[in-house]
Amino acid sequence: MGTPPANPRKQVTIPTLKKMHRGGEPITMITAHDFPSAHVADAAGVDVILVGDSLAMVALGMEDTSEVLLEEMLLHCRSVARATKAAFTIGDLPMGSYEISPTQALETAIRFKKDGRMQGVKLEGGQEMVSSIEKIVGVGIPVLGHIGLTPQRQHMFGGFRVQGKTKDSAEKVLEDALALQEAGCFALVIEAVPAEVAALITQKLSIPTIGIGAGNGCSGQVLVQVDMTGNFPPGRRIPKFVKQYGNVWSESLRAIEAYRDEVKSRQYPAPEHTYDMPKQEFEMFVEATKGV
Ligand code: KIV
Repeated sequence: MGTPPANPRKQVTIPTLKKMHRGGEPITMITAHDFPSAHVADAAGVDVILVGDSLAMVALGMEDTSEVLLEEMLLHCRSVARATKAAFTIGDLPMGSYEISPTQALETAIRFKKDGRMQGVKLEGGQEMVSSIEKIVGVGIPVLGHIGLTPQRQHMFGGFRVQGKTKDSAEKVLEDALALQEAGCFALVIEAVPAEVAALITQKLSIPTIGIGAGNGCSGQVLVQVDMTGNFPPGRRIPKFVKQYGNVWSESLRAIEAYRDEVKSRQYPAPEHTYDMPKQEFEMFVEATKGV
């Protein structure tokens, strides 16, 4: 599974993130949905790994994030936790697992800690989530808020639409941000909000904001790993805010096609990929198989 680095980095904690924020150091966050994607994100030195419910669409092929089940999220969280040595880990509460009551939210958050082995949780929503956040934070589970475009509610927004584009809508995002800070969130994801609105909200808060499609004035950034590494077939539509830093799809395709061709042409496996046996043992084996 690779050689561990000579100087493994220190575990990122809530105090580490607070220190980065105080010092003006941008916080890096990325999604991971399984053991290998968490392994590589942790090795790359990102501060926070999020098991986002984007899992539903990019890893499980579902129509939207509302389809993924709590048990499915927990299975993926556990695999991410096993691979993550230093980054702070956060699990995303899936739709239907936290909105009914603060008690339901707390029960689910506890499952993310105990069964999912996550260090913190994220949930979508603004002022209406305050009592649930207070309840979760009250027992010592760190909560990352998520405001602006909240994909679990996409059908209410009429799709994945930018939020905060009018004065009233921007005020609503700010009010949500202030309420979530007051409720005890340690940071907030701000998704698909004009850059100037997200920057102003960031200035008005004492906790960090993590932007996704919210410009460069946030305290940190998050992207979906599958999107930013280019691990998808050509032609798939990705949001405007995604920068594609790699082309994992074409590298995987090249490797798998080469393997297919070498198996068909019997170039693979070559002698260096095979185990041998003492000649004498083989001759005795041949003898023993006579008549079989
Ligand atoms: O589900 C997810 O991956 C997310 C991030 C995009 C913030 O919520």
